[in-house]
Amino acid sequence: MDQLEAAGQSRLAASLSELSGDAHGRLALQCAALDLSLVQRLVQTMVRSPQGQAHRAEIGPAMVDRIADHPDGRAEARAVGEQALRDNRVAVVLLAGGQGTRLGFDSPKGMFRIGPVTLHSLFAIHAAGIGASRRDYGCDLPFWLMTSPGTDAETMAFFEKHAMFGLDPRTVGTFVQGMLPAVDPATGDILHEAPDQLTLSPDGHGGIFRAMGRAAVLGDLEERGIDVIMTMQVDNPLMRPADPELVGAHLMAQAEMSTLVVAKTSAEERMGVMATVDGRTALVEYSDLPKDLEQAHDADGALTYWAGSTGVHCLDRGFATRIASGEVELPFHRAEKRVATVDDPDPQAANAVKFEAFIFDALPLAARTATVEMAREERFAPVKNADGADSPDTCRVAMVARASRWLQSSGVTVPDGAVVEIDPRFAQDPADLHGRVPTDLIIDEPVYFPPPA
Ligand code: UTP
Repeated sequence: MDQLEAAGQSRLAASLSELSGDAHGRLALQCAALDLSLVQRLVQTMVRSPQGQAHRAEIGPAMVDRIADHPDGRAEARAVGEQALRDNRVAVVLLAGGQGTRLGFDSPKGMFRIGPVTLHSLFAIHAAGIGASRRDYGCDLPFWLMTSPGTDAETMAFFEKHAMFGLDPRTVGTFVQGMLPAVDPATGDILHEAPDQLTLSPDGHGGIFRAMGRAAVLGDLEERGIDVIMTMQVDNPLMRPADPELVGAHLMAQAEMSTLVVAKTSAEERMGVMATVDGRTALVEYSDLPKDLEQAHDADGALTYWAGSTGVHCLDRGFATRIASGEVELPFHRAEKRVATVDDPDPQAANAVKFEAFIFDALPLAARTATVEMAREERFAPVKNADGADSPDTCRVAMVARASRWLQSSGVTVPDGAVVEIDPRFAQDPADLHGRVPTDLIIDEPVYFPPPA
């Protein structure tokens, strides 16, 4: 109670004192789990006495390793990445702690069934990619899932129900990201959704650093000699876990943090873009990119801010540790949201401020970064919305189109409209298909290419 008062949360302290028995115990437990000094700092600087922008940041174009510029360099990057995998220097973290609000799916998003033929889940597809790389490179490739209190138990139960999708249970782990309370926009008081329940939400994908530190994941990786942590989003089944080309490009650049980008489809596409901000590599969210820059074109007619982030990064383990330990700090962002609260005078208006950290805010903190372009149709088809753009429908179309292209490159006849799905353990790359599919094959019904026996 005293700590709540000291942190400027006397209203919450009073609500706690009004409760008794189990209800008191439940609320007291949630209060005890709060990082009160962080909450106090966020409320003070972003709600009660918000500081204005010190200066207008100077945004400039990013330096990107474009596909067309370095075809040979890419083969070299791939070879370097493959060697790093064989040398057991790489781990993968799947970001799976989000609430998936836009998709409107009740369970963790990774359980969403996306396979165009099999209806395999997003988790199943990512796990298959991990299994394929472990087999092909003879490596451990530790696989961690970042969950949140709302997704952790269901995620692990799902993996267990599916026998860890064939992975050794000792090699798959979860760590749970932190939660932050929503606060009243006028007073900074922590909100309740019920008398004995605070309004809490995950602390954003930038919570990965603190969470990896707390759960001793970084120490474990250090002991194993792993120095590259690839992070990827759960909702993009086209992404190849531990993509050797990205890992290699990251290592060749001696980068502390790297980003995989694809070309935006239009100036208006709602994607964060790579840029420089005050001279440092950064990602600028679409809502923060001034309209004139969004529409800017180079002398050759190409979009200036074309490099959309896929949300895939490689992190140097030492760099991640510096952030996890608080030696360098990620900023928090403030978002006005609607949340369910006990006393809600206007059920339409935004009634809460939430705080979130973003993984990409680590970019300007890195001594060196690499930004690597890949073809969108090969690596990026996220499931964000229930329908329209970036929905299950557009994602399945992209999965089928990629599988069809790969098969056609091996001589297989794939008529328009055919539905095909390739398990990552069958092929993670078109070259893997050579010798695995008969070239005189004609697809005339939905076909799934399963893992080899
Ligand atoms: P998004 O920003 O797309 O959020 O997350 P979301 O939760 O999936 O969906 P909406 O915005 O509520 O509709 C991108 C990736 O980051 C992870 C998500 O699970 C997804 O893989 N993420 C996001 C976390 O792991 N933790 C968070 O706090 C937020």
